[in-house]
Amino acid sequence: MQKRISPAGAIGGAIRLPGDKSISHRYGILASIAEGTSKIHNYSSGADCHSTLGCMRALGIDIEVDGKEVVIHGKGPSGLKAPASQLDAGNSGSTIRMLSGILAAQPFVTRIAGDESLSRRPMARIMKPLAEMGAKITAKDDKFPPLEIHGGVLQPIDYSTPVASAQVKSCVLFAGLYANGKTTVREPLRTRDHSEIALREFGADIEAGPRVVSINGPATLQGRELTVPGDLSSAAFFLVAALMSKDADLTISGVGLNPTRSELIDFLCGIGGDIKILDVQSSGGELIGDLRVRSSRIRGGVIEKALTAAMIDEIPVLAVLGAASENGLTVRDASELRIKETDRIATVAENMKRMGVEIEVFDDGFHVPGRQQFQGAEVHSYGDHRIAMAFAVAGLSAVGETVVEEAEAASVSFPEFYDTLRTIAG
Ligand code: S3P
Repeated sequence: MQKRISPAGAIGGAIRLPGDKSISHRYGILASIAEGTSKIHNYSSGADCHSTLGCMRALGIDIEVDGKEVVIHGKGPSGLKAPASQLDAGNSGSTIRMLSGILAAQPFVTRIAGDESLSRRPMARIMKPLAEMGAKITAKDDKFPPLEIHGGVLQPIDYSTPVASAQVKSCVLFAGLYANGKTTVREPLRTRDHSEIALREFGADIEAGPRVVSINGPATLQGRELTVPGDLSSAAFFLVAALMSKDADLTISGVGLNPTRSELIDFLCGIGGDIKILDVQSSGGELIGDLRVRSSRIRGGVIEKALTAAMIDEIPVLAVLGAASENGLTVRDASELRIKETDRIATVAENMKRMGVEIEVFDDGFHVPGRQQFQGAEVHSYGDHRIAMAFAVAGLSAVGETVVEEAEAASVSFPEFYDTLRTIAG
């Protein structure tokens, strides 16, 4: 599917976004192995989070979906059944990596696979700790999906993960729910802590310190009623669209502001963004608030080290903002971008060039000089949701029309994206 994006007038209005992708996955998995019924409000409409629900259903869990309201009839820690066929994680790295932690503890063999993009994403990072805990896992070329997981009794471990990855941390913690004793994960940089918060909400015994978290197993979780905050990573597209446009005044309500994610807001404010945080509340251990964003003179800046890890999903759209900033944007320490749904350094660079914008590429990042004008062009999502949405935003400030090829990729995290864009851009 192609989407035609015309230059926008003033960006404004008030919007509310679908539920956070990261949190929805966690609630979907944990509610399935909890005892009793969980009601999840504002569950993500994205295909990825529905891949997680599809896998849980195939493992014998009864799940009712009515739009964004999801009811999960959990069957307790030993309630999963061997699936009749291979599980399908679709495009979702979170599904395959986090669910593998649960599957490693089951008394049956599971095969889990995904689409072409997922079949190229590295799994050794979860296979190693799960093997140390006692699971036997085989993979294509020893590192790619499909995975064949021979579950069994797990031992607790104290694991220092070499990659800063919340998916790896979550996988080991979820496996730790089934191990007898204390499982500890240490990470090189702080990553999002939604699993720690969700595990605590569902009743697990968790201890968290700076870059270290432990879970005491075995644990029996209890079903809960929870509301998923709006997705800050989805909000990023509209924040950037508003910051870049003239006379913008946009309010985004009910957005997740977990401090391990909201460094994005601090960064944008630090480079000149006019973003106000209003009405902050706590729900299910997560912070939620409204964001008011207005047109701003953006200076540009450098994203590196811990900041890169904290904003890894937002970098494609920040690259777009960088081109419109005064001094440009440099991104370093971002080699993880090369193993996301696409090689996002390459796909950002290719689309920038198509739109007549200069970019210098490094192994671990890029530099986009500032004060550049996007030219309407044909760009491609390459099947990557965040690339589709980032370049639709670039199209709003381009001279002439932009065509996004394979634009439907956005539905992996945000099926309503183009409708919402139309609402705010007129
Ligand atoms: C996620 C963690 C990040 C992020 C992904 C979602 C999560 O991946 O890029 O979109 O929900 O834990 P890594 O764990 O690979 O860094």
